[in-house]
Amino acid sequence: MTGFVRATSTADIPDGRGKLWRHGDKRIALFRTQAGVYAADNRCPHEGYGLKDGDIRGDVLTCAWHNWKFRLTDGTCVFGGENIRTYPVSIRDGWVYVDLTDPAPEEISPQLFASLLEAMGDVDTGRLARDTMRLRAIGTPLTEVVRAGVTYGATRAEYGWNHSLATLADCLTMASAFEGPLSTLPVIQGLATVSRTEVRRPARPRPDPADVAAEYGSAADGLAAFPALIDAERGDEAEALLRGLLVAGVSREQIRRAFLTAITDHFLGYGHPMIYCQKAFDLLDRIGWSEADTVLPPLVPAITWSTRYDRLPYMRRFVQAWQEADLAEPMPAAATAGPDAQFPAAASQGLRRVLLDGMPQDAVAGVLSAVRGGVPVPWIIDVISSVAAARLGRFDIDSDTDDTKDAGWLDVTHTLTYVNALRWAWSANPGPAVLRGVLHAAWFVQWTAKFDAEGAAPVTPRRGSDAGAVLQAIRKRDPDQAVALVKGYDGAAAKLQTALTQAAAEDNSTASIMVAHAVKTTTAAIAESRAGGRAPLAAAARFLAAPKRERFVYQATLDAIDFIQGRAKGDTQT
Ligand code: FES
Repeated sequence: MTGFVRATSTADIPDGRGKLWRHGDKRIALFRTQAGVYAADNRCPHEGYGLKDGDIRGDVLTCAWHNWKFRLTDGTCVFGGENIRTYPVSIRDGWVYVDLTDPAPEEISPQLFASLLEAMGDVDTGRLARDTMRLRAIGTPLTEVVRAGVTYGATRAEYGWNHSLATLADCLTMASAFEGPLSTLPVIQGLATVSRTEVRRPARPRPDPADVAAEYGSAADGLAAFPALIDAERGDEAEALLRGLLVAGVSREQIRRAFLTAITDHFLGYGHPMIYCQKAFDLLDRIGWSEADTVLPPLVPAITWSTRYDRLPYMRRFVQAWQEADLAEPMPAAATAGPDAQFPAAASQGLRRVLLDGMPQDAVAGVLSAVRGGVPVPWIIDVISSVAAARLGRFDIDSDTDDTKDAGWLDVTHTLTYVNALRWAWSANPGPAVLRGVLHAAWFVQWTAKFDAEGAAPVTPRRGSDAGAVLQAIRKRDPDQAVALVKGYDGAAAKLQTALTQAAAEDNSTASIMVAHAVKTTTAAIAESRAGGRAPLAAAARFLAAPKRERFVYQATLDAIDFIQGRAKGDTQT
């Protein structure tokens, strides 16, 4: 009888009905039927009402509220969406004893993970939240929960890495900002984003690993061939090669370098491939390199099929300027120096001015002259980062909710996330390939000036040390107030970061795409604040607090009208 606890007398349980019994932190509903006495968790998994008020027919309990039905013998849900826990019962001398022994974690863990994946398949946020909490309650690290979510998402992602995987990767980082059970919030938000994105999607077919020695001669030759295959849009071969390189045991550093070369051959997909690459490698640092064959291959289609922005007309002037520069020439030693020295303030301000308000060719010339003048690249990245933060601060919020305009918040948030990814890339692989990415970033922050609001006055800082007030301003959708409070904040930095993290992890947005960008922008802003101080945080607060267009039906309708009338975007004729 180990584990059995005396609950109540059988006579105290009304015939055919339920009785609530409390013991420690447990709330158990006891039922007496003609077949015997049963015990089950009282809280209905549907919306949380008490099962003790349910009706019993045979051995089936029907929740009084919305008709979910459970078999009392084993807790199986026979109508509804989730089983309940039942407990062994013993009757002795007219007393009911309930066995409260919890199953061993190793016994219950596989069931909980299976349930979690089922919940993701059903886009059942409530259930995946409960399963995450149940897994946490038996001591499962959140990295393991995220690993399951990544495997689910990475194997289904139709075109490879996407926003939802990037969100889940960031959400694991964000979890460390919280203490106690609320640390699950970002993870659950990330899992929910993946489940919505991949709903009903089958596994993405993927090529078998290549035999690198037989097909390419050596691992070194395979690594050299990888960017060329991507450039030639031979994605399946590149993915097979990558898998083969992993089988051959090629190091993390070599594979990362090959990716960074492929990613910087062009300015790809508005910066997404670089951002995804950063998240993928960060994620592997946390969940383990053993998952490389799950996490990295979906990067290949995401890179291969990305738009090459440098081929688009509006990037032409800029591309011309950087093609004239020979990036492969040896960089001055100072360009690869560490981040501790100081960029002379005047030079830094000059470059910032050019990037913020100059012309495209001035931007590239400014960056190149800084590199050639021996300015360490991390300092240049600092300046680009400060301009990206300024862009978010200047963005014309009204244009986001104007369906007749193409401009939206996401046109500018990527500048900050891209710069942050670039900083990671440079720290991992300083050299000509990533230097190309620095030029892309310079173009990016300069070009997005077109989304600035005209004549907007800077927000005056409001002094205070209440990080909670920042969170409230964001919840109330008051961007000016949020920015003023962040700018004037003089409390502990960690509290401000936690407030912003919480704002991003809460239901700040409804559309998955906005949830993803709230998470990514905030994560990047916090990382960039280490170099850029308060400005990136104020930028993230403005984005989080601003009212945003989250459904695109009206805009899609207007586009469809143009489409049916044969008007291409950019046509000036009406
Ligand atoms: S709360 Fe039980 S069915 Fe809805």
